[in-house]
Amino acid sequence: MIELININFSYPESPNKFILQDINLKLDKSKFSVILGPNGSGKTTLIKLIARLLKPTSGRIFLDNIPIEKISLKEFYRRVSYVPQKFFSIYPYTVFEIVLMGRSLNFNFLGFESRKDLIKVNEILEQLEISHLAKKRIDEISGGELQKVILARSIAQEADILLLDEPNTHLDIKHQIQIFDLLSSLKSKGKTIIAVSHDINIASFYADNLIFIKDGKIRYEGDIKSVLREEIIEEIFEVENKVLIDNEKNIPQLIINPLRKNFE
Ligand SMILES: Nc1ncnc2c1ncn2[C@@H]1O[C@H](COP(=O)(O)OP(=O)(O)OP(=O)(O)O)[C@@H](O)[C@H]1O
Ligand SMILES: [Mg+2]
Repeated sequence: MIELININFSYPESPNKFILQDINLKLDKSKFSVILGPNGSGKTTLIKLIARLLKPTSGRIFLDNIPIEKISLKEFYRRVSYVPQKFFSIYPYTVFEIVLMGRSLNFNFLGFESRKDLIKVNEILEQLEISHLAKKRIDEISGGELQKVILARSIAQEADILLLDEPNTHLDIKHQIQIFDLLSSLKSKGKTIIAVSHDINIASFYADNLIFIKDGKIRYEGDIKSVLREEIIEEIFEVENKVLIDNEKNIPQLIINPLRKNFE
C-alpha cells in the first residue's frame, strides 16, 4: 500500500549529509509496523517524508501505486493522518477544539462542523478516557495527557493510514497499553498503523513487523520472530541484552541489563 523506492534525503542546510540512504520499504495494508532505532537515526525524517512534510532528495513514494505528489493534499490527508513527535500550538485551544480539528476535512462548505463531528469527537475522548479534559486549554494539561489529545485528533480524522511518531513516549505503562490496544483494534478494523517507538517490548507485543534503522539506513526488517534477536539489538543499540521467549504466548521479550554484567 505504501511503497518507498530508493529514497535518499538530506536537509537543505547540509546537502551533502544524507540523513536517509537507499530506503526501500513496503508497508502493507492493515498491518501494524513499528520503526525502531537509536536517537538521530532518521525515524522522524522517514515518517515526515511519508506524511509529505518533507520531500525526498531522490527516490519516490507511492500510495496504492500512485506517486504521493500526484495526489491532492486534501485527498491525501483524508487517507493519511500523522501524529508528530513534538506538538506546538501558539494558540491556547481547548482539548475539544484540538480533537475537532481532526474532523475539519469533513466540515461542510461553510467550514462548520456537523452534529456527527461533535458526536465522533466525544466518542474518541471517551475511548481515550480524556472526556474530563475537554474544556481544558492544551497549555494546562500534562505531557502524557497532551499526547493522548494529539492521538485523539488523529483518530478523529478517520484516515486509513495512521503515522505515529512516538505516540507512547510520555505515557505510563497502563496508558501505553491502552493506546496500543486501541491502535490494535483500529488495525483489526482494517487501518494501517505505522509507528515509531523506543519501547521494543511494547512494539514486539503489538506489531506485525519491526523496521530497524541505524545511521539513516534500514538494517533489518521483518516479523518479530525473525528480527527480535539479541545480536540485532546489540548491533543497533549497542547494549548487551537477552531475548526471552514467553512460552505461553510465544512472544519474544527483551531484557536489557543496565549493569552490563554477563547474563549467564
Ligand atoms: N530540520 C532539520 N534540519 C537539519 N537536520 C535535521 C533536522 N531534523 C533532524 N535533523 C537531523 O537529522 C538526523 C535524524 O533526525 P531524526 O529526527 O529523523 O532522528 P530520529 O531517529 O527521529 O531521532 P529520535 O529518536 O531522537 O527522535 C539527526 O542527525 C538530526 O540532527
Ligand atoms: Mg524522532
